[in-house]
Amino acid sequence: MSGQHTIGVTVNGTRYDRSVAEPRLLLSAFLRYELGLTGTHVGCEHGVCGACTVLLDGEAVRSCLIFAVQVDGHELTTVEGLDEDGRLHPLQQAFHEQHALQCGFCTPGFLLTLIPWLREHPSPGEPEIREAISGNLCRCTGYANIVTAVQHYVAKRAPAA
Ligand code: FES
Ligand code: FES
Repeated sequence: MSGQHTIGVTVNGTRYDRSVAEPRLLLSAFLRYELGLTGTHVGCEHGVCGACTVLLDGEAVRSCLIFAVQVDGHELTTVEGLDEDGRLHPLQQAFHEQHALQCGFCTPGFLLTLIPWLREHPSPGEPEIREAISGNLCRCTGYANIVTAVQHYVAKRAPAA
C-alpha cells in the first residue's frame, strides 16, 4: 500500500504530527526513529521480552505489537516522560537505590509495566510482584533486586501509620 499516513499523537504531553509512508511501521520504530525517543528499547520484536513497553492512554502495551497508525489521536507515555519536575519518578529512584539494573536495557519496560499495575495494586506481596513482572525479561540483573526495589517503593509510598 502506498501513500502517506498521518499520525497525530501526544507523547509525554507534547503533540506530534507526522506523516509516515508505511502503514506497517511499528510504534516502537515510530517512537525511536521518527520522534527520537530512544528510551523505548526493542529486544525481541514479537511481544515476548517487554522491553518496548509504553503507556497507551494509561495502559501498558508492547509497542512492537502495535502499528504507529493505530495510535493516531491517542496519548502515550514513554520512559522519557516519567520524571517529575526533573526528578526521577519514585519508582525509578527505587530502582536506582536498590541496584535494580545493570545495563538498563530492560528497565524502561519494567517501569512502564509496573507503574499502571501499582496503581491498581497499591500494596502487593512478593508473589504478586513476581507475577506482575513475569512478562518482562532481564538478562543481567536478575529479578531479586527488581522485586526489592518495588517493595521499597511500595513501603515508601504507604502513609505512615
Ligand atoms: S521488543 Fe516488544 S516485547 Fe520484546
Ligand atoms: S538490566 Fe540488563 S537486561 Fe535488565
